Amino acid sequence: MENFVYANPTKLVFGKNVISQIGDELKSANISKVLMLAGGGSIKKNGVYDEFTNSLKSRSIDIFELWGVRPNPALEHAEEAIDIIRKNGIQAIVAVGGGSVIDEAKAISIGVDAESLWAIYERREAPKSALPIYTILTISATGSEMNSGAVLTNYKEQKKWPYGCPLMYPKVSYIDPSKQYSLPWNQTVNGAIDAISHIMENYFVMGAAQETVVSYNESLMRSMVKHTNVLQKEPENYDARANFAWIATMALNGYSGIGVNGGDWATHMIEHGISALYPHVAHGEGLAIIFPAWIDYMKDSKPEFFTAWAKNVWNKDSVADGIEAMRAQYKAWGSPTRLSDINIKKENLEAIADNILELSRPGKLKSFDKADIMNILNLAL
Ligand code: NZQ
Ligand code: ZN
Repeated sequence: MENFVYANPTKLVFGKNVISQIGDELKSANISKVLMLAGGGSIKKNGVYDEFTNSLKSRSIDIFELWGVRPNPALEHAEEAIDIIRKNGIQAIVAVGGGSVIDEAKAISIGVDAESLWAIYERREAPKSALPIYTILTISATGSEMNSGAVLTNYKEQKKWPYGCPLMYPKVSYIDPSKQYSLPWNQTVNGAIDAISHIMENYFVMGAAQETVVSYNESLMRSMVKHTNVLQKEPENYDARANFAWIATMALNGYSGIGVNGGDWATHMIEHGISALYPHVAHGEGLAIIFPAWIDYMKDSKPEFFTAWAKNVWNKDSVADGIEAMRAQYKAWGSPTRLSDINIKKENLEAIADNILELSRPGKLKSFDKADIMNILNLAL
């Protein structure tokens, strides 16, 4: 077990009808003017918007609304928000939506006091301060509600890059799992696959030294499969939604990575390269395609560990059968599992590999060069 510090400063408020508490929370922080950031409108259909605005209005807190955050949030939209905040003396951002809305809020929060937001993402400028962020999560997937990372896309340059620093932790996050009843099935699936992938990014760099963490990570993965299967038949099963939500938060709030100094993350970096060039590809879909190929490519690097994964998570005796079980499960949920399913062909692969390497070489179990990335992409065809 490597040395670690476990401190997560985000307060999480979880359960039915918790959203209405946000007005009191903001009032107690002396906040009287906020920017509400939201996506394409789902929050107006499932009651989240009304619950949120009523709570703030009853505490006389002014709300500036900015809609239109897209899945894979855009630098230009974040810059628009920064402008609104600077002109109106806004004191905090409330992100109401999924990982895309929360990530954009985090980027905005450090961009307000910066020369150039994109320069921070390019590591040419360091963030000086951040506006406080509050989140109301409507889709459990990324863990962004309780971590300090945010992925932003510069569409002009076709770069989808992550950035993170302690300033970017949300102050308070609200999760009412019943507000996820309205999710289209494919978004629930994307969330499940993203959470399982976050656990695997940490899990596969572990070994006997992290036995406790390995064991609860296996349990979290099995549980996520179980509750997603329940939701496929009963989308309004509260306990399944609640378990799903808590697993997704734990998958990327530090808990699943205890005792290793950072996970592998090559699969994530490869997925970001794919959705930088093909923005219609959802994050969870890209992971469903790349992770089985990554496991296939890396399985001989520590065969006993990968065999234990196949047995303990998928109840299979070989890694090959474990990979097939994972692919079959993702397919049964309706997810693509091959690049050909999303119309990406052999001749497109080199541009994806080049895009990924513009940021850095991905991977911890093995630091990947272009040939490694091409091999994985070919296995995913
Ligand atoms: O825009 P609206 O209308 O709200 O619709 C959204 C969106 O179309 C819809 N949705 C959300 N909650 C809903 C709902 N529809 C009905 N009912 C609800 N309750 O779902 C769609 C997807 O939302 P999005 O926020 O894009 O999904 P997700 O949470 O999966 O976020 C994906 C983004 O997060 C990044 C991804 O790369 C991607 O850009 N990631 C962020 C991470 C982090 N900050 O830690 C880590 C992840 O690995 C990931 O890279
Ligand atoms: Zn992810």
